[in-house]
Amino acid sequence: MAKKKATTKKAAKAALAPHADGAPAIDIGINAKERARIADGLSHFLADSYTLYLKTHNFHWNVTGSMFNALHTMFETQYTEEWTALDEIAERIRALGFNAPGSYSEFARLTTIKEEPGLTNTADWRQMVGQLVSGNEAVCRTAREVLEIADDADDAPTEDLLTQRLQTHEKYAWMLRSLLQ
Ligand SMILES: [Fe+2]
Repeated sequence: MAKKKATTKKAAKAALAPHADGAPAIDIGINAKERARIADGLSHFLADSYTLYLKTHNFHWNVTGSMFNALHTMFETQYTEEWTALDEIAERIRALGFNAPGSYSEFARLTTIKEEPGLTNTADWRQMVGQLVSGNEAVCRTAREVLEIADDADDAPTEDLLTQRLQTHEKYAWMLRSLLQ
């Protein structure tokens, strides 16, 4: 029984520090358990950010109506910036010693943003803008949750990254919301 417990403990430790045999252990001043918690939170944040990015790009392609030119351009500005940020988030997960999720099935499982596949067939531009307001707000809520975890671990680079993302997505939410007022 004791032997089994030791094996389980070893397996758990290996799962928290997945580096190749012979690679140096990570020692950046944040313990493995806290790094794992932050990386897990950032994986959810990456999934939300990716889903919002894709939805914004989708609406750039499919928007119609009298607001076409303004929205086509506005959505492009936002998705281009969001695309660049995805890389920063994923690479922060790598720097903490974990793999970043990078497949549609993982993003679908981890995100809090709902896809509405039928929307593009009938969408009014107001519905698209409304969905992007909700999406940006969802990204903000997840960022705040992960920010708290990073704060507990004194992980300043993650806090800095999330603070910047919050500033951007709160601004996008305001700009989009203003279109509907
Ligand atoms: Fe385009």
